[in-house]
Order: sequence, then C-alpha cells, then structure tokens
Amino acid sequence: MTDIRNIVILTGAGISAESGLRTFRADDGLWEDHPVEQVATPQGFRRDPDLVQRFYDERRAQVRAANPNAAHLALGRLDMGWKRGDLLIVTQNIDDLHERGGAARVLHMHGEALSAWCTNCDARHRWTGTLRNNPPCPSCGMASLRPDIVWFGEMPYRMERIYRAIAGCDLFVSIGTSGAVYPAAGFVQEAGRAGARTLELNLEESLGSRVFSETRLGKASEIVPAWVEEMLAG
Ligand code: NAD
Ligand code: APR
Repeated sequence: MTDIRNIVILTGAGISAESGLRTFRADDGLWEDHPVEQVATPQGFRRDPDLVQRFYDERRAQVRAANPNAAHLALGRLDMGWKRGDLLIVTQNIDDLHERGGAARVLHMHGEALSAWCTNCDARHRWTGTLRNNPPCPSCGMASLRPDIVWFGEMPYRMERIYRAIAGCDLFVSIGTSGAVYPAAGFVQEAGRAGARTLELNLEESLGSRVFSETRLGKASEIVPAWVEEMLAG
C-alpha cells in the first residue's frame, strides 16, 4: 500500500450496525416495517408529513443514543494520521458517528438526521429535538422545516465534489453497504476507471463484490481496525 496517496472511503449502514442502528435491507431492516414510499420520498412527506416527521424523530433519537464503534474510531485515527495525501469519507449514513469517532473529512451524501432544512429560506440548522410540532425556522420564522435527508427520487448532496475526489484517488474503500442504491453503488466502477485499487470491507458479499479488486468479509468492528493499522503502519 506504499504507493497509495489519495483515499476515498464510502460507508453505508453496515458500519453503524454494531452501534445499534438498524440497516435497511437485512431481515430486520428499516424498510421491512417502514415502506420506503411512505417515509423516505417527497410524495410520502406531502401525503402524511406527521408520519414522516415521527419516523425521523425516531431516527434522530436513536442516533443520539448510539455511540461510535471500533470501526468509526479506527477511521477517525486514519483521518487524523493519514499524511501522505487526501482522504475523504463519503457516507450514505445520516448518523454523526464518524464525526464522534474522530473523523473530520466527512461528507454526508444522503443528509443528516441531526439537521433540519427550511424549504422556505433554504437554511439548515442543527436539530436534536422533534419536528412534529412544526417549529418555526430560526432564520425566517416560517413553519417550513423538514428532515435534512435525501429521499428516494431526490438528488444526493455534493455529487460534483464526490466524483472529483474519486477521479483523483489511488484507493477506493467501501465499508458496510449493500451496493443496492445508486449513485453510491456506481462509485466503485468510477474508481476503477480512474485507475484506483478498490477494496470492499463488508459482513457478506454485496451486489458489487465481483467488481472490487479485493473483498474482505467480516464485522466492521474487526476488519476495519485491522485494515487501518495496515495503512498507518505502511
Ligand atoms: P434509487 O431509485 O436509485 O433507489 C433504488 C434502490 O433503492 C433500489 O435498488 C432499492 O434498493 C432501494 N429502493 C427503492 N425503492 C424502494 C422500496 N420501495 N423499498 C425498498 N427499497 C427501495 O434511489 P433514488 O430514488 O435515486 O434516491 C436518490 C438517493 O436518495 C439515493 O442515493 C438514495 O440512497 C437516497 N435515499 C436516502 C434515504 C435516507 O433515508 N437517507 C432514503 C431513500 C433514498
Ligand atoms: N459489519 C460490516 N458490514 C455489515 C455489518 C457489520 N457489522 N452489518 C451489516 N453489514 C452490511 C450488510 O451485509 C449489507 O451489505 O451492511 C450492508 C447494509 O446494507 P443496506 O441495509 O442496504 O444499507 P446501505 O447499503 O447503507 O443502503 C444504502 O439505501 O435506503 C437507502 O439511503 C438509504 O443510505 C441508504 C442506502
């Protein structure tokens, strides 16, 4: 790994599973008892805003009650210790466990549970309480706050920044994602086209496993720290 300079790391729900946050497509996944159309689409929000606000109130409370696990802490050490080039963690997760695990260079492409977005003035505010009682936006005073989450059918955040980082990386690492949802599921192909090595760290084979140069299977809390120690020792 000595020729590695610039690293892009994509993370999904699997990295936070051992912190007690449910993933989406396991047998007990979130989408089993919360139909996506009802709670994770703009149409669902228009149809029943209170149901959607309750769903994300629940996510917000669970994120606040969770703690970073050994995988988040290891990536925090890597972010602080990687001096040979750039490093960017692109997460599909809406929790703040990367940041609480010590990472600073984190980009949330699907938004954040602890953020509220005003559809009137476009301001974003850190939000830890409920949104069910239609609180006024701290910036414009209008009752037009929604969860700052990218729903199905909406455009993920900061895509230009992400593609630029992938185009310039030597190593692309995917951790804890099923590879079921685009555009994140296509990042590994982009990285391959840019000539980067690609490594998958996941509990089980994913939809993209055959595309990666290397796949290591195991629990994130075990295989991520082992990989980080390799990188920092290299
Ligand atoms: P998409 O249409 O590419 O999603 C396709 C995939 O999403 C499917 O392969 C399936 O895995 C999943 N999906 C879609 N509909 C589903 C359903 N009814 N039940 C279960 N799974 C379903 O995604 P999109 O519409 O282009 O969404 C744009 C972006 O928004 C994507 O990156 C997506 O990941 C993101 N998103 C975020 C959240 C969130 O809560 N953070 C929720 C939904 C979507
Ligand atoms: N360690 C490593 N990987 C794990 C662990 C673990 N302890 N537990 C689960 N996994 C893996 C599963 O094997 C699975 O491949 O994490 C992956 C979780 O996949 P999903 O539940 O599909 O979650 P994710 O890939 O993040 O979903 C992508 O879809 O619904 C949208 O926006 C939502 O961000 C989400 C996106």
